Amino acid sequence: MTTPLLNSLTIALGERSYPIQIGSGLLADAANFADLPKASTALIVSNSTVAPLYAAALQAALQPHYASVHLVVLPDGEAHKDWQTLNLIFDALLQNNCDRKTVLFALGGGVVGDMTGFAAASYMRGVPFVQVPTTLLAQVDSSVGGKTGINHPLGKNMVGAFYQPQRVLCDLGTLKTLPPREVSAGLAEVIKYGPIADMAFLDWIEAHIEALVARDVQALAHAVRRSCEIKAQVVSQDEREGGLRAILNFGHTFGHAIEAGLGYGDWLHGEAVGCGMVMAAHLSQALGLVDAAFVQRLTRLIAAAGLPVRGPVLDASDNAGRYLALMRVDKKAEAGAIRFVLIDGPGRACMRGAEDALVRAVIDRCCAA
Ligand code: NAD
Ligand code: GLY
Repeated sequence: MTTPLLNSLTIALGERSYPIQIGSGLLADAANFADLPKASTALIVSNSTVAPLYAAALQAALQPHYASVHLVVLPDGEAHKDWQTLNLIFDALLQNNCDRKTVLFALGGGVVGDMTGFAAASYMRGVPFVQVPTTLLAQVDSSVGGKTGINHPLGKNMVGAFYQPQRVLCDLGTLKTLPPREVSAGLAEVIKYGPIADMAFLDWIEAHIEALVARDVQALAHAVRRSCEIKAQVVSQDEREGGLRAILNFGHTFGHAIEAGLGYGDWLHGEAVGCGMVMAAHLSQALGLVDAAFVQRLTRLIAAAGLPVRGPVLDASDNAGRYLALMRVDKKAEAGAIRFVLIDGPGRACMRGAEDALVRAVIDRCCAA
């Protein structure tokens, strides 16, 4: 069986380089899993929502390549991105006598992908893994670039490893079953690439936002390809986030505070990032880096993607104080000082600190009464 491969690009990391393949129907085609590291066993990691939809097809496609293909089904949700759930992967690996050549396949969204990658990084000190992302967010961001990990109650993605997959297979066909709210969440990470790197892409997203929300396949294919190209360029230059890669966290400092403050899983990650970008844009304006028109334009687009643009109140008595406390736990913070990814001109991002008083004023302005 052949399936339409629309695009293939490479993430260039020397001996850790790998292809990102984008197309429809890819995960059911055995040919797409040839040329992976040889092993006798494979373990598909999925969750209780995605496994019933796609695990059988993936299992059948892997069967020609491995003597045994096992499946572990995790509970669904950001709230399960924790040690206890991670351990279910190690349980499955050990119960099935998986050796150090076993290949893991992450079949699901960013939660499954991040946890599978972290399990692969640490099982027997490292086994190969493949990303088969099934959400828009995972296809345009989380499956690419090798950030893996889990949450800690005190901070988002605080425990993890940089560990690159062998391959990323973005099957656009899986997006048909995605709930609309998840499509919007994925669009937040698509929109992100415009202001930080490519204003022509932002123009294109604006012109195609309705098609994207409606899941037009051609529009999605372009959005996934361009997003992956930008991410690949950034990661190829700065794999371990020594500097440049931090720009991919535009909106994430405020966004992580929203997620941690509300409790993981209340707002979706993409929703928090979308709103976080609005807040970061306001902070950029307050620092004189962009004008009000830019902030309004970005806010309109984020709203058109179906995302919230007003931040939640995390603490009725001192909301800004609560945001600030949560943001100090961000991985970009240095010696307790928060560092924000801001826009310092259309298509250009920078990292900066800001006075607490200024940040407080932005939070007050951006949060729902
Ligand atoms: P998710 O993994 O929770 O998936 C969203 C929901 O969609 C889940 O309920 C899932 O079961 C369901 N689902 C997945 N695919 C489906 C399909 N095809 N049809 C129907 N339902 C489907 O969330 P997400 O938005 O994919 O990822 C968010 C996570 O990714 C967060 O934990 C975030 O921290 C992480 N992330 C990581 C990186 C990175 O670089 N590693 C980047 C961005 C985000
Ligand atoms: N999502 C941010 C990064 O991969 O660096």
